[in-house]
Amino acid sequence: MIQLPADMIDSLAAAESVLVLTGAGVSAESGIPTFRDARHGLWARFQPQDLASADGFLRDPETVWQWYQWRRQLVRDAKPNPAHTALKDMQRLYADFTLVTQNVDGLHQRAGSGDVIELHGNILRNKCSVTGRPIDDPAIDQDQPPPSPHHPRGLYRPDVVWFGEALHATILTRSCQAAEQCDICLSIGTSAEVEPAASIPRLAQENGARLIEINPQTTALSRHADWSLRDTAATLMPTLVERIASSKGRPLMR
Ligand code: OAD
Repeated sequence: MIQLPADMIDSLAAAESVLVLTGAGVSAESGIPTFRDARHGLWARFQPQDLASADGFLRDPETVWQWYQWRRQLVRDAKPNPAHTALKDMQRLYADFTLVTQNVDGLHQRAGSGDVIELHGNILRNKCSVTGRPIDDPAIDQDQPPPSPHHPRGLYRPDVVWFGEALHATILTRSCQAAEQCDICLSIGTSAEVEPAASIPRLAQENGARLIEINPQTTALSRHADWSLRDTAATLMPTLVERIASSKGRPLMR
């Protein structure tokens, strides 16, 4: 594991308000494919606009539905990894801590994180394809999208943000407010390529926050970050959170 800069630990220990933005890289070590990894990523093997868009769903609802059923099973079989657990522990060290995720797998919540802001929705939830109203039934064993209970022409669809769809306004507002008031923003496991999520760390910096990036690869954000740490989340996060806790004189209860 790489060396953690002492000045970064001091800044984290002194911070009053912390914002964390996570991406698919945080769930990679739970066995869930990321999107843009050139070899195994979801977008390396499938065309996003065909499978993760309203047009794609209209064109071929069965194929899109079956792709999501496959991803849902991956998510159900997955377990939170040490990065998720470390972020749950980190939340308890700060009075003002906001966790915003682009991930739709719910693993932060399963690790024990509270009040998680899901920018892109949650793959395990369904909603009506016409009205957008929630549908409680998980439809686990359905191999094609059942008809929606909310509209005669509606179908079940995953409650996730598709390409070309707007994010939920209040969710985006809450994320931007957290960015405007945080002292430190951590961007963990995201390629920082998809807007508006990618702008959240920059918004934090424009409002005076320090920026930490954790990613084994460089991204468009790396050159802006105050600290850009080339390591994996599951390796680095547990040590980082333990160092913050001991620096605050509050050793973690394991
Ligand atoms: P990407 O697949 O674009 O990027 C994943 C990032 O995680 C890459 O920069 C990897 O280098 C990094 N990574 C891989 N393994 C890691 C590890 N073990 N620890 C830390 N980082 C690791 O995924 P996202 O940035 O999350 O949108 O993609 C953002 C959005 O694009 C997704 O939410 C999805 C997709 O279209 C929607 O679903 C709306």
